[in-house]
Amino acid sequence: MYQAAVLTVSDRSFRGERSDTAGPLVTKLLCNAGYAVIQTAVVPDEQAQIEKALRTIADAGTVQLLITTGGTGFAPRDVTPEATVAVCDRLTPGIPEAMRLASLQITPRAMLSRSQAGIRGGTLIINLPGSPKAARENLEAVLPSLGHGLEMLSGKPADCARESAQSSQGRP
Ligand code: MTE
Repeated sequence: MYQAAVLTVSDRSFRGERSDTAGPLVTKLLCNAGYAVIQTAVVPDEQAQIEKALRTIADAGTVQLLITTGGTGFAPRDVTPEATVAVCDRLTPGIPEAMRLASLQITPRAMLSRSQAGIRGGTLIINLPGSPKAARENLEAVLPSLGHGLEMLSGKPADCARESAQSSQGRP
């Protein structure tokens, strides 16, 4: 079982003006897919604070998957992708490509998410948009393939030719 963390990026949730619904939804989806979500946090849309949270969580070495939700759009304070790129050693562009490809079948506004994904040490970081609907649709687009990626990231010999029943069911 892989361990995961969920980071909500939202000024209003951080200030307590709006309850965080996307974070708990992402946590539930990950738990349903077999991940142990061991950490959740809320930070404001401040690049330095987002970067600090991403570094702290990833560098603790306890989670293999770190999902962010929020701050991927065009608003002046939407800087989650910039923070993510700044902390990653290697980007994984196929993940946001797959999320936008799937999401464009649902809404043309999917093109407005600037989500990024990448690897810091042994942790895969993935940005999701901030609305619960968009977060769910984007996560569900990639969740079935993440286990195989995390297996490779952990250094285990992963068989890319094997289409496992586990993976196609979205289990890590
Ligand atoms: N992707 C999916 N699957 N479904 C959606 O409803 N909304 C889009 C986009 N991606 C959407 C989506 C919209 S309207 C925006 S503005 C961007 O995600 C960015 O959202 P964020 O600023 O909350 O991160």
